[in-house]
Amino acid sequence: MRLPWFVLAAAALAVAVSSATAYAPPSKTLKVGFYEHSCPQAEAIVRDAVRRGIARNPGFAPGLIRMHFHDCFVRGCDGSVLINSTPGNRAEKDSVANTPSLRGFEVIDDAKAILESVCPRTVSCADVLAFAARDSADLAGGISYPLPSGRRDGRVSLESEVLDNNVPPPTDDVAALIASFARKGLSADDMVTLSGAHTIGRSHCSSFTQRIHNFTGVQGRTDPSIEPAYASDLKRRCPPATDDPNDPTVVPLDVVTPAEFDNQYYKNVLAHKVPLTSDQTLITSKRTAAIVVFHAAVEKAWRAKFAVSMVRMGNVGVLTGHQGEIREKCFAINRH
Ligand code: HEM
Ligand SMILES: *[C@@H]1O[C@H](CO)[C@@H](O)[C@H](O)[C@H]1NC(C)=O
Repeated sequence: MRLPWFVLAAAALAVAVSSATAYAPPSKTLKVGFYEHSCPQAEAIVRDAVRRGIARNPGFAPGLIRMHFHDCFVRGCDGSVLINSTPGNRAEKDSVANTPSLRGFEVIDDAKAILESVCPRTVSCADVLAFAARDSADLAGGISYPLPSGRRDGRVSLESEVLDNNVPPPTDDVAALIASFARKGLSADDMVTLSGAHTIGRSHCSSFTQRIHNFTGVQGRTDPSIEPAYASDLKRRCPPATDDPNDPTVVPLDVVTPAEFDNQYYKNVLAHKVPLTSDQTLITSKRTAAIVVFHAAVEKAWRAKFAVSMVRMGNVGVLTGHQGEIREKCFAINRH
């Protein structure tokens, strides 16, 4: 039986929406157009900064989308990932999950400097980052959606919390990934849908060298779930010495259309041509494999679902009302 794409898309959206109510009730306090009266230009200012940033370095688009994810998964979307370490505190930024790989901080600082001159102490850094990720998906991929805002900024950022059951490591299997997202109130469908962000951007070799040179701790062994020609390609680009997280060598996450925000990622997963274990593992459970197949077949449905799941991720653990603060500089908590 062949169904037209829109029937499948509607079915998938119904699943997404019903799981939305089952897992995370929409925030009562975030609101589309939160800055409409207090700083009407806020969203346009962020968008212009993102546009300028991407013009300088297209890698800032994937960088900002990933930064928002890493923000939301540690203490909620509270801008904690943006804070610099100080003599008394090792901040999230210094985790191996974030340094040296996160990029695009200068775009946030650029937007915030302008916001502070136009409407001082009004727009949170958590919202600036959430808007910047949304605008990146639009400028890089034409996925645009209204984004609820009104997040407040956290005052705590700890390196030790990043990999402590918060940001999932790329070695996770599908069960661990589902559990990781469930801890944040997100579904397995959200997880598979948002992993589609790996259609752009890059990975440092160290995120998968154990998979090509030392699989299951056996030196010289390669994960047999990698397509052989692609495995040879990865081994050539990432020799054993690149296992060091500070080694700058990178490969595209999507080997076929590295710069296009499309559904090629899911086709690559099906073809066993993805660098990370956390990507390849998505076809090892029936439930997630079906979602991969669907996204690979119906790009429009994935794009619509991506917007829905990004909004849901942006609600995770937010501070609102009088909680937290509005930071004056995104890289430091306010002095009191
Ligand atoms: C499902 C669990 C996930 C894992 C284990 C994971 C892991 C990773 C890893 C290891 C990298 C490469 C970093 C590097 O070495 O440079 C990466 C890159 C990236 N991730 Fe994920 N990720 C996950 C989910 C997500 C989600 C939910 C998003 C956003 C919606 C996302 C967006 C990105 C983007 C855009 C890049 C490219 C970054 C760049 O080019 O600077 N990832 N991810
Ligand atoms: C290979 O993996 C094992 C087990 O994880 C580890 O003890 C060993 O140091 C690794 N060897 C290399 C060369 O990375």
